[in-house]
Amino acid sequence: MKVMLFPGTFDPFTRGHRDIARRASKLCDELVVAVMENSAKTPLFTIEEREDLIRKSLTGEELDHIKVMKWDGLLVDLYSDLGCCAVVRGIRSESDFRYEAELALANRLLYPGYDAVLLPCRDDMSLISSTIVKEVGFYGGDISKMVPAEILEEVKDKFKKGRKQ
Ligand code: PNS
Repeated sequence: MKVMLFPGTFDPFTRGHRDIARRASKLCDELVVAVMENSAKTPLFTIEEREDLIRKSLTGEELDHIKVMKWDGLLVDLYSDLGCCAVVRGIRSESDFRYEAELALANRLLYPGYDAVLLPCRDDMSLISSTIVKEVGFYGGDISKMVPAEILEEVKDKFKKGRKQ
């Protein structure tokens, strides 16, 4: 069985992430979306909230072959535990490509069996990022084209609560 891993901070999950998950799930038997920590980032949503938002963004049928989990550790450890054939990451730009190439090289040093598949994003999603969602959302702007409709209200509520504090 071919298992692919789609890791990320997903703070929060965007329409761009969902598109990558859907396309990647067609390239393997099972796709595991792993919500992780990035030591360079301080997430707004807890890891449990992020995991929950991803599940809510996917249909029941999609969840039959897309598993969602959280992982607090090295990516390569999860990769080897699950017996993955590749990690999938979406790329929007040349700078994303550079970052992903470096990440793949570092992970390959840690685990020689590591491989990565880089999926170019859809042209209408090239400007969507979790960072932009947080910036626009924090000021009460319209994020409806950036996050899945199923989680829009929950994401907006988080910004509303954040502004009240
Ligand atoms: O969505 P992001 O923030 O670009 O995802 C980055 C992530 C979480 C995949 C990366 O930071 C990661 O793999 N973190 C876990 C720790 C690890 O294994 N780091 C890579 C060692 S080079």
